Amino acid sequence: MNPGPGVTVRPARLVSGSLRLPGDKSISHRYAMLAAIAEGKSRLENFSTGADCGSTLACLRTLGVRWEPRPGGNNNIEIEGRGPELAAPAAALDCGNSGSTMRMLSGILAGQAFCSELIGDASLSQRPMARIIQPLRAMGAQIRAARGDLPPLCLCGGRLQGIDYMLPVASAQVKSSLLFAGLFAQGETCVEEPLRTRDHGEVALRAFGAKVSRQGNLTRIAGGQTLHAIEARVPGDLSSAAFFFCAAALFPGSQLVVENLLMNPTRARLLDILMAMGVHLSITQLEEHHGELVGTVQIAGGRLKGAEIAGADSAALIDEIPVLAAVAPFTEEGMRIQDAKELRVKESDRIHALALNLRAMGAEVEEREDGLIIPGGQQLHGAQIESLGDHRIAMAFAIAALRAHGETYINGAEAAVISFPGFFETLEGLVQR
Ligand code: S3P
Repeated sequence: MNPGPGVTVRPARLVSGSLRLPGDKSISHRYAMLAAIAEGKSRLENFSTGADCGSTLACLRTLGVRWEPRPGGNNNIEIEGRGPELAAPAAALDCGNSGSTMRMLSGILAGQAFCSELIGDASLSQRPMARIIQPLRAMGAQIRAARGDLPPLCLCGGRLQGIDYMLPVASAQVKSSLLFAGLFAQGETCVEEPLRTRDHGEVALRAFGAKVSRQGNLTRIAGGQTLHAIEARVPGDLSSAAFFFCAAALFPGSQLVVENLLMNPTRARLLDILMAMGVHLSITQLEEHHGELVGTVQIAGGRLKGAEIAGADSAALIDEIPVLAAVAPFTEEGMRIQDAKELRVKESDRIHALALNLRAMGAEVEEREDGLIIPGGQQLHGAQIESLGDHRIAMAFAIAALRAHGETYINGAEAAVISFPGFFETLEGLVQR
């Protein structure tokens, strides 16, 4: 997306309060896609308000899926499932800024007896698609990328055959894409991942009535299964909560409570890291909804030691690293982030974006090919931040700005709408000066 108008963030003294967040982006995408190919009408409460999930809904509409907002606010929607057959689209499917939409929807389109074109904005048009093109071709779909492996994609689906596939990169989007394609394939599809990534695809498939089995890092699904509509409330987005948790953690005396928050163990590594950094944190009201854990998290700001993020943690924290890196200079021992090369192919090159903006605020930082080394005990000053059109970069530096001397201007702050419209207003509501 194009960087739009900016927002000025002033330093804070405390970040306190209580909130509930819009539905998790990863789960909302998957619920919407599976609801579209299920039998019956699904009712989804607290659906993500982000523009990315809007892109998924818009693509589904182009594929003949009827959905409408339900009365009563809270972003509730009803999706009329079509069963396994979608309608051939009369126009290109515009995935906007959303890699999740392009990659996961491709899995479903691979099983459809028509051709479609998937397009995206300037950022998405630079993101690698070989990771889905190769295995979906091996299953029998015809896919062509416009330039190398970059979007737009032309995809003609058809008869698929189940495959055994080892993911070369740990990616939950790719895993979900292949499991979704597996629903349309003859025989069994078996996906092995090098590291355990978020399991929302598997959990959602089971919620819609499919049988999915898992053994270690191997997930299997048999083709030809019928999905059935669900009624569900999407848990609050933990990756959005990360910004507020880090904000509260920066100020001794802060108290923050987030209710109805996603607590899926494959997503909640941030909470362990914050605790290891010295943050006081408690989890209560744990419940399970359609296989997803939900709870209330309470955080108290205090001491902030440093952290080392490497190996499996880098994959588990891939969406939280931007905000962790942005607060790293304020920690006692700093932060060393490695094995995180995937950050270079997100909505922006996030390693570069983090180094660039940390330096603009006066921080010392070492940029590595696969991560960053950020010394602790630094004092930053307000600066002009460049979001580079990346929602998580815009929001991460709004948090760093709370502890800087002077005002920070975030250019392209409106990128936050990709995952969290209203982010800046929500943050202002928690900040005391
Ligand atoms: C997501 C997986 C991650 C993450 C993205 C959402 C998902 O991407 O960064 O924001 O919902 O599966 P990768 O699968 O590319 O690692």
